[in-house]
Amino acid sequence: KKLLYYKKINSTQTKLKTIADAVAREGVIVCADVQTGGYGRMKREWSSSNGGLWFSMLLKPALRPDEVSKLALIISLALNRVFKQKYGVKTNIKWPNDILFKGRKASGILVDMSAEQDIVNWVVAGIGINVNNVLPKELKNISVSLGEILNKFVGRAQLLAQFLCVFDEIYAAFKKSGFKIFVKEYNDNIVFINESIKIDTGFDIIEGVNLGIDGDGKLILKTPKGLEKITAGTVVKGK
Ligand code: BTN
Repeated sequence: KKLLYYKKINSTQTKLKTIADAVAREGVIVCADVQTGGYGRMKREWSSSNGGLWFSMLLKPALRPDEVSKLALIISLALNRVFKQKYGVKTNIKWPNDILFKGRKASGILVDMSAEQDIVNWVVAGIGINVNNVLPKELKNISVSLGEILNKFVGRAQLLAQFLCVFDEIYAAFKKSGFKIFVKEYNDNIVFINESIKIDTGFDIIEGVNLGIDGDGKLILKTPKGLEKITAGTVVKGK
């Protein structure tokens, strides 16, 4: 594996995307201490001060573009496993890929891709983990850091190594056996299961009871009109 490390960068995501076509092998990682233009899903700003783990990883999976969202789901599963099994922190997953601790966000994942027709050229997965960084006060209610949860300094190099180790295992199993083998673990760790939630799909707001994901990684909501399968969106908590 190759790691490109920066003290300060605009965004590891932007950086890796600009070189992704030229890099043949998957696994290259761009990591930075500080991002001056870190961003998240829906182009939202991502607070990336010193002490957090901010990195992007290049993948070249043999997938169709419509299957790439499954990758984001298995990355969140890998992160959730690391938090739970390596750090003893009881996190769970907010569909599709936020890692929460007691309702506050410890980590976010962003997946960008380049595709032509039915072929995926590359996927750049951006992962932001609040580790020892001090969160700005406007984020304190909705975000949390691993250091704050454990009340101690957490080594970022070790955290990255642990993530890569767990992810490699999950990614290999995904390539070999597909996504379905992860559905149970995902649903066992999903927040708001069997609760009424609202999803903003970007087009409209769908409300229903959260039945978890199906074998394609779609979220199933039980609505008055019947079951709805949602491919992409953001949970905006219901009642
Ligand atoms: C989200 O929850 O909206 C996703 C946040 C992703 C943040 C990471 S930090 C490393 C990489 N570089 C970026 O600019 N964003 C991602």
